[in-house]
Amino acid sequence: MKEFLQQRILVLDFGSQYTQLIARRIREARVYSEIVDSAISAEQIAAMHPAGLILGGGPASVHDINAPQLDPAIFELGIPILGICYGMQFVTRMAGGEVKRSGSREYGSASLTVKNAGNPLFAGLPAAFQVWMSHADEVVRGGDDYEIVGSSLSVPYAAVHSPKRNFWGVQFHPEVAHTRHGTRIMRNFARRICGCRGGWTPRAYIEEAVELIRKQVGDGQVICGLSGGVDSAVAALLIHAAVGDQLTCIFVDNGLLRHDEAIRLLKVFEDNLQVRVLHVDAADRFLGSLAGVVDPESKRKVIGHQFIEVFEAAARDLPGVRFLAQGTLYPDVIESSGIGRHAEVIKSHHNVGGLPAKLGLDLVEPLRMLFKDEVRKVGMELGMSEEMVWRQPFPGPGLAVRVVGEITEDRLALLRAADRIVQQEMKKAGYYRKVWQSFAVLLPVQSVGVMGDGRTYEFTVALRAVQSSDGMTANWAPLPNRLLAAISTRITNEVRGINRVVFDITSKPPGTIEWE
Ligand code: XMP
Repeated sequence: MKEFLQQRILVLDFGSQYTQLIARRIREARVYSEIVDSAISAEQIAAMHPAGLILGGGPASVHDINAPQLDPAIFELGIPILGICYGMQFVTRMAGGEVKRSGSREYGSASLTVKNAGNPLFAGLPAAFQVWMSHADEVVRGGDDYEIVGSSLSVPYAAVHSPKRNFWGVQFHPEVAHTRHGTRIMRNFARRICGCRGGWTPRAYIEEAVELIRKQVGDGQVICGLSGGVDSAVAALLIHAAVGDQLTCIFVDNGLLRHDEAIRLLKVFEDNLQVRVLHVDAADRFLGSLAGVVDPESKRKVIGHQFIEVFEAAARDLPGVRFLAQGTLYPDVIESSGIGRHAEVIKSHHNVGGLPAKLGLDLVEPLRMLFKDEVRKVGMELGMSEEMVWRQPFPGPGLAVRVVGEITEDRLALLRAADRIVQQEMKKAGYYRKVWQSFAVLLPVQSVGVMGDGRTYEFTVALRAVQSSDGMTANWAPLPNRLLAAISTRITNEVRGINRVVFDITSKPPGTIEWE
């Protein structure tokens, strides 16, 4: 077993929105962490040989009849355990302490005073620092051997240590960015308390993935759909690193891509990375079947359907293919395994969902263990350019969901030209990587304008720029006026056919990020 797997930390999920953040913070300390359901038994845990456990927070109260439980035998495994919020409260009750019930949730910043600077959890930290509290119930009496290692003004039991149980508990959330030194606390737990050495690096991951891919694939042929996005590109590169020419990438050009996108992608993969790509130019077919389609959901269905047909035909033409590679990420794995809250899928996003079953191929998913930021690091390590690694998310149905109303070649050309300017100016101003997405949307609205001595009656573009950490919720990004002005001036000057630019100031919810 690889060193990083021998030193993993398991995060037990009690349903907190922060569970994934906990795992990510631990991984930032170069220690591999995995999320498991809190109902896991001590026996199952022991079989995974973790170096430490973290009990996450959750929406329940320990006083609820249906409060999630924990197998008490985990305290006999002799592994260090960190309880955060609910996790701390649960263990405190088990240890004979008292948790006060509270009807309301308190949240906000508090100043934590370290009571025992010698405790390894707070090694290297200042005597007092800001932490983020978000809780309803609160520990008011410690367990039998509790030592208070940190307190805030209103929460005496803000951080505790129980030597007998090898247990640390914190009432605040070290995993969120509002807690100063939170990363250091997580790192102290993983490295100092659990004794992990920090072998979780992109290089180590690549070595492990290459080995596993070789084992799974043998001498079989693999295909991988390239979308132009980071995930499929990194998945392809990993597979290429493992089995070289046994991989063929399939790139379906649906005619809905951005300016020069297809050419750039092919150049990078074929010329720079030496990966074989089958380029299927299906633009006419996609645009033909979209003629007259206006309803957003119908557009997505048409595109999803066409994609499967085109991809399937291309795949069938390749001899001896047994595997289909997909860029599934760890958050998708967590969600589909039923751990944590289920995000509502409001738009039919997964437009290639039926593909593996239809093709009768086995899946290869080399990114199943990774969070998005780790995918980027692995991509860089594999030689991908910064430009490609830091590309903003782009929807599968492409510009189709950004041309409101009917999609025609002319309208696509207008949007492409406007979108190109948005990307250029965002990059130039250093804002491209600061936002989750930034793009133009072409509206089916014409309005009156003036150009020289003449009157114009042309289309409107909406500029959309949002900040988000996962696309599920988003805030509109407050771009500086200078940047807004540069984008607006260039679009109205340079794109014949657009005479008005508006800025979308809607957050999600209630708006979605894409307009359709
Ligand atoms: P919405 O518009 O639902 O988008 O707020 C959330 C995120 O998902 C992207 N998106 C898609 N991605 N296929 C995709 O692969 C789709 O059909 C699709 N629709 C939206 C969107 O760009 C944003 O990042």
